Formats: sequence, C-alpha cells, structure tokens
Amino acid sequence: MRVPFVDLRRQGAELFEEFDAAFRSVVERAAYTLGPEVAGFESAFAELCGCTRAVGVSSGTDALKLAYLAAGVGPGDEVVMPVNTFIATAEAVSHVGATPVFVDCLAGTANIDPSRIADACTDKTRAIVPVHLYGQPADMDPILALAADRGIAVIEDACQAHGATYRGRPAGSMGVAAAFSFYPGKNLGALGDGGAVTTNDPGIADRVALLRNHGQSDKYTHAVVGYCDRLHNLQAAFLSVKLPRLAEANASRRRAAERYDELLGAIAGVDPVGCRDDVEHVHHLYVVEVEDRDAVRSALDAAGIESGIHYPVPLHLTPAYRDLGYGVGDFPVAERMAGRILSLPMHPYLTDEQTAYVAETLATALA
Ligand SMILES: Cc1ncc(COP(=O)(O)O)c(C=O)c1O
Repeated sequence: MRVPFVDLRRQGAELFEEFDAAFRSVVERAAYTLGPEVAGFESAFAELCGCTRAVGVSSGTDALKLAYLAAGVGPGDEVVMPVNTFIATAEAVSHVGATPVFVDCLAGTANIDPSRIADACTDKTRAIVPVHLYGQPADMDPILALAADRGIAVIEDACQAHGATYRGRPAGSMGVAAAFSFYPGKNLGALGDGGAVTTNDPGIADRVALLRNHGQSDKYTHAVVGYCDRLHNLQAAFLSVKLPRLAEANASRRRAAERYDELLGAIAGVDPVGCRDDVEHVHHLYVVEVEDRDAVRSALDAAGIESGIHYPVPLHLTPAYRDLGYGVGDFPVAERMAGRILSLPMHPYLTDEQTAYVAETLATALA
C-alpha cells in the first residue's frame, strides 16, 4: 500500500470541471488583476473567519509582511513569536526591518508558551505573533490580555489554521490582523501561491489593500510606496470553488486524526502532539513524537508511507538567524521536539485502511 502525505491530485481530479469553468470565465473576460473573483472570495473568506474584512494577497509570507506593516511594525521594532514555526513568520519581520524575538513552545501542543512571552518583551516590542501551528489555535486569551496591558499588537499567523476555532472564536478574528496562506497543500489551497490578511479594523484592511497594489489609491496616484503583492484573480476563482468544501474537508481531517489518536494510543513509544479541549483543531498536520525519529521515518518510507518533519531546525538555530546570537539550549522544549517530531500522512482522503496501515507500520518499527 502507498500512503501519500497529501493527495492534491485527487482533489484536482474531483474539482477539475469546476476549475475549468472558473478558468474559462476568467480568460473569456481577461479579468486577471483584482477582478470580481478577488472581491467575491474576500467577502466569503472574511465571513468564514468572523471578520469584517479579508484582503487577498500573493502569499502567506506577504500577508504577514503587509499585516506587520499595517500594524506599524518597522525598523528598530521587535516582534515576539514562537521559535518553532515556518521561517516565513520571522522572515516577514526581517523584510520590514524589524527583529524577530523567539519564545519556547509548550510540550503538550507545540504552540507558543504564553507564560514565557512577558520575559521576551522589551520597550521595543511592537507585536506578538502567535502561530496556530499544525492547525491548532494557540492559547490566545493570556496572550491577548498581556498584549492589551502593554499596548502591543497581536497578529495571528493563521497560515495553517483555516476554519479552526479557539473558545468558539475563529482563527484569524482574534488579533488586530491575521495572515493566511493558500499555498496548494494548505487546508484551503489555491492552484499556486496566494494569501489573505483578515481583520476587523477597516484602517488595517485599507492599508493592506493599498500596500498590496503599489500604494495606489487611484489609477497612477501612489499614496505610499507599496508592493506588487496582489492575489491573482484566477487563484481567487479557484479558491471560491474550494471554500464551500472547507468545512467538510476539515471534518474528514478530524475523523482521520481521531482514528490515529485511537490507534496510536495503543502503541508504546508514539506520543501524538496534544489537542486542547477548548479548540477546534483543523489538523493541517498530524504530528507525533518518537525516539529515534530518523529510523522510524526510514521504516515508514520503506513501507510506502510518506512523512515529513515540521520543522527540523528551530529558527534560533537556522543559519539565516545565526546573527541574532541565540544558541543551543536557549529553547529546550522546541529543541527536544525538533529531534523527535514526525508528521504522518494527513489529508481529507485518508482511508481507515491507510491509518491502520500507518499505525501497524509504526508499531512494528517501534517494537
Ligand atoms: C506557519 C506558516 N507561516 C507562514 C507561511 C507562509 O505561507 P506562504 O508559503 O503562502 O508564503 C506558512 C506556509 O507554509 C506557514 O506554515
């Protein structure tokens, strides 16, 4: 049996006719740039996120960058974030001339440890960026309370959390702004790159809309120096085909995660990353911790089971951030997890047979 990590071909085949119709419609009208498809998708996506506005942009990385800029982050500022995230969370901080400041994660959920954020804040801290890692919202209430006390902006990195909720509030609706990615493998993925900033602040939404399109307020009137960071109209059309299926796809992921939880609970030596009981996790990734991870991964590979590591090197040890001056031992929880985490196949088409086969193979590898 082969168990792919994600199954984008199957999704493409199922939706092909609708993608084709969307493609034809856009091409017939030659409506490629900020057309009605972008506006239509933005309002539907804002509604899903419980926000008044969503602004479509070119990627999750650019969504972060534009959200940071719109929230006033700039040179000399510090931005606090978990050390165990995809590099883009930090990269976008560097792009706006600010400095990322890292915080360790919680062993249970792999999300930022709220109790360590205060120590990371200085008088230069302009924003805190909780990342809803693997599709599970971070513990937002203590973070929002701390940020409100100190007058710091909270910007959610919701790039892995389309449709997730925390205490009933949608991911993307809790900070002053949030960034989403529509990279093809995401729970809501385009057929290429894309992203969005969601917010309930019209000032932030307008600023992001201005910045994404060369700072243009009227044709050839450039109010500020901006970027070419628009969501492509064609990608918005494809995303609108997929958006109505997101809830069902997330429910399928949840069922697969429950099957994994049940099967893996019976195997000694496999420790799934935990899930809080006050969140709706959307299982972008299903991650376990194991000893001797690389040997286990090879055994899965030999059995035709694809796996991944998200992420093998915490950001403080990645060469790009060596100059920040952190070292081994600074973030012990994240460092330990980085050597033990393994992402198992997770997608809406995962069958009972496949989850059972993954569990059996893991049991044999760990015996
Ligand atoms: C947590 C996180 N932040 C940011 C990004 C960046 O998104 P994109 O690849 O669309 O630029 C990703 C995507 O992989 C991500 O997982």
